[in-house]
Amino acid sequence: MSTPEKIVLADGQQLAAAAAARLITVVVDAQAARGQAHVVLTGGSNGGALLKAVAASPARDAVDWSRVDLWWGDERFLPAGDPERNETQAREYLLDALPLEPERVHVMAPSDGSFGDDVDAAAAAYAAELAEAAPGDEVVPAFDVLMLGVGPDGHVASLFPGHPGYAVTSGTAIAVRESPKPPPVRISLTLGAISAARQVWLLAGGEGKAEAVAGALGEVDLPAGAVRGTERTLWLLDQAAASKL
Ligand code: 6PG
Repeated sequence: MSTPEKIVLADGQQLAAAAAARLITVVVDAQAARGQAHVVLTGGSNGGALLKAVAASPARDAVDWSRVDLWWGDERFLPAGDPERNETQAREYLLDALPLEPERVHVMAPSDGSFGDDVDAAAAAYAAELAEAAPGDEVVPAFDVLMLGVGPDGHVASLFPGHPGYAVTSGTAIAVRESPKPPPVRISLTLGAISAARQVWLLAGGEGKAEAVAGALGEVDLPAGAVRGTERTLWLLDQAAASKL
């Protein structure tokens, strides 16, 4: 388990550009070392800006995208193609422009997919897909990098403070109901699945995140403060989000 480190960038634009450059480098390094890379994407504004910055970077061609497995930390349980789905946004911002292998793009099921509106079955299917891609007896792949947007309340993925999903100690993918952030029904990785990643990056930009960042890096029990990468836990902040540290 790693000790949280932080890097403070000037503003949201610099945050997205710096995180995008770092992501490309980590994926290139992972492919050089292991032949492939497992990357976990996040929804939210900072995660979206990062994807747009990767799309705009000429360095993105240094990655062999056909050997990248993409996963999601959480998903909004909505119909396929809904503009509020994290998947829809990721495809629009970046994925549609990349030569990815479709079977390596591991989306969480939509609410009108093969499991219909059974969010528990959809979450269980994601857990099974993770286990299938995991080495040996492991239940998740050793994600090379797992990115998380940080909510103003200190949530990450769809694990909210004081909400049952945050207290789950077994399993890798869970159904979340009555989420404080809309939409109410979601699928999320658990704390345990997140903390199996080599690198966990927490992205936070803007003044609205300052309190959560200070709390999570301080003494407050928040999901954002509870996640750790096995090799690295990195907070990527802009000055506004870091203003209460
Ligand atoms: C979601 C997210 C969520 C998000 C944070 C930060 O589906 O809503 O995955 O965890 O990353 O709420 O979002 P912002 O960057 O938009 O504040």
